Amino acid sequence: MAALLRLVALLALAHTLAASPAPAAEPRSSDCTGTISSLNDVAAAVKCTTVTINAFTVPAGETFSLSLLSGTKVTMNGDVTFAVKNWAGPLFQISGTSITFNGNGHTFNGNGASYWDGQGVNGGVTKPDPMMKIKISGTFTNTKVLNSPARVYSVSNPATLVMSKLTIDNSAGDAANSASGGKAAGHNTDGFDVSTTDLTIEDSTVHNQDDCLAINKGSNIIFQRNSCTGGHGISIGSIDSDVTVSGIQILSNTITNNDQALRIKTKAAASGSTVSGITYSGNTATGMREFGVLIDQSYPSTLGTPGTGVKLTGVNFVGSTNSISVNSGAKRVAVNCGSGACTGSWNWSALKVSGGSAGTINYSGIQNYSQ
Ligand SMILES: *[C@@H]1O[C@H](CO)[C@@H](O)[C@H](O)[C@H]1NC(C)=O
Ligand SMILES: *[C@@H]1O[C@H](CO)[C@@H](O)[C@H](O)[C@H]1NC(C)=O
Repeated sequence: MAALLRLVALLALAHTLAASPAPAAEPRSSDCTGTISSLNDVAAAVKCTTVTINAFTVPAGETFSLSLLSGTKVTMNGDVTFAVKNWAGPLFQISGTSITFNGNGHTFNGNGASYWDGQGVNGGVTKPDPMMKIKISGTFTNTKVLNSPARVYSVSNPATLVMSKLTIDNSAGDAANSASGGKAAGHNTDGFDVSTTDLTIEDSTVHNQDDCLAINKGSNIIFQRNSCTGGHGISIGSIDSDVTVSGIQILSNTITNNDQALRIKTKAAASGSTVSGITYSGNTATGMREFGVLIDQSYPSTLGTPGTGVKLTGVNFVGSTNSISVNSGAKRVAVNCGSGACTGSWNWSALKVSGGSAGTINYSGIQNYSQ
């Protein structure tokens, strides 16, 4: 009897050993390459930590959405085109942590000309907006966006993200079309809309009809060595209620033929917000149509009655010279602060603005600058 029991126990042990899981050396199932040549391929491809995107067309009214495993490397091998439909979008969305995205110079084509009517997101037909939602940490590089219907990149990274060598080409939207009543057909085509922390955008090129960069809230944001053509310049704001903006560096950008080069706009009606620690260094601008530098607390009016609910402090032009030239009808610098809302001493020693005429500066804390 005892011998039989021992035999049963032995058999049970042998069975357990045979069924035990494979040793750790076996590769993880995510060590594979997923290839995307249509939206049908996405669900399987995102189970792999290497993903390749081939040229394909995304059907109208659908989002090309990549929800990636941590550490995934994505490479584009061809252009992605979005078929046209009047809906809210986004057209492309990517999320995940420690992602390496390399567009290899390939294009996301938004077919903007099929939507543009000069009204952007304020009217006319419904446009996919934003076109590109970026919700990754890691790097996103070497990618072109052609002809966005309205705003291009909305960025909300979960941890540190560097976006570099990107091209946004909405230059075709500068011309009027049959729906735009003589105005530029492209409208509200912001390059980068940013409400985030720990983000760098560098070495990129934007040609559009609205802000090159708009920071609505957030901290530790660097925008450097980019080129901005045709739009509304590099903007902090518009700042609404109960937000904080701090630690922003705008460095060595080139701004060409924009309404203004460098702007901070806060809403007249906003309350409970703080904007601080804004550094401008080494930026160059030519052909500004309205202002060189505009700091205005009366948004949505321009140089109207300013509000006092956004505290603005530490706005400095330091380090390398910021060299700005404005057109003959434009103002060089205008500062319109609410009473008591701008505080501290601002060092503007590295600001040189030429052309046009002087604007009104009504904050007395600005040091080392006169116009
Ligand atoms: C202002 O900035 C200049 C140039 O960046 C610097 O040399 C100077 O020390 C600064 N002044 C103050 C008061 O911080
Ligand atoms: C700046 O000018 C505006 C408009 O005239 C005025 O309402 C505001 O109180 C002024 N601000 C300061 C700080 O003097």
